[in-house]
Amino acid sequence: MAFLELARKRRSVRHYRPDPVPPELIEQVLEAGRWAPSACNSQPWEFIVVTDPQVREAIYQLANVVGLKWPHLRSAPVTIVVCARRLTPYSRDDAIFAAQNMLLCATDLGLGTCWIGGFNESKMKRLLSVPESYLLPGMFTLGYPATEPAPPPRRELTEMTHTETYQRRGLDLTRPRFVWSVLKKLFRLQVRKPRPPTSP
Ligand SMILES: Cc1cc2nc3c(=O)[nH]c(=O)nc-3n(C[C@H](O)[C@H](O)[C@H](O)COP(=O)(O)O)c2cc1C
Repeated sequence: MAFLELARKRRSVRHYRPDPVPPELIEQVLEAGRWAPSACNSQPWEFIVVTDPQVREAIYQLANVVGLKWPHLRSAPVTIVVCARRLTPYSRDDAIFAAQNMLLCATDLGLGTCWIGGFNESKMKRLLSVPESYLLPGMFTLGYPATEPAPPPRRELTEMTHTETYQRRGLDLTRPRFVWSVLKKLFRLQVRKPRPPTSP
């Protein structure tokens, strides 16, 4: 699948078929997480693959925001919990990068996912015996989608992009100044090319 098509196709899936996910597909998803970027290549992430119905039920019972629960934690045959050791100040970011790789990989494999951030981190760590010092930024459901959710609206690209500084709203890559700055960079790269050593 072309990358933009994949990025657009990924949806938060909240209804799943009961069919189990083959272990080799789960492994591919985890492999995608393994190749995420991380600060100083610290790779602080740890992934907990939960398929046991009792553990999934316990997660479902615990995860909520002001009493609002996530039934997809019950219906999806797999939950993958994303944890991170605190190796750098960026460990939480690293774990989220790994998670996004996994969500996109799952989409590419025809699987559905939904990222869940609505739960009490300390209580969830205790439930899953994750060391208290670790981070647990989130988890995601994984399984075959029972429905194909419609894409929720997105803000327009022109609304969220700026050129050169925040003040100039919108993307304008055709401006002569931009072209000139690229030419200047290219020219500098040419000048900085390593020269052969000069003879004494
Ligand atoms: C940080 C974060 C936390 C989220 N937490 C939850 C959650 O607790 N429960 C849930 O059902 N969806 C959760 N979502 C999914 C969002 O609701 C969803 O991504 C958003 O509505 C856009 O829909 P889409 O993923 O289909 O594009 C979360 C997403 C993010 C990025």
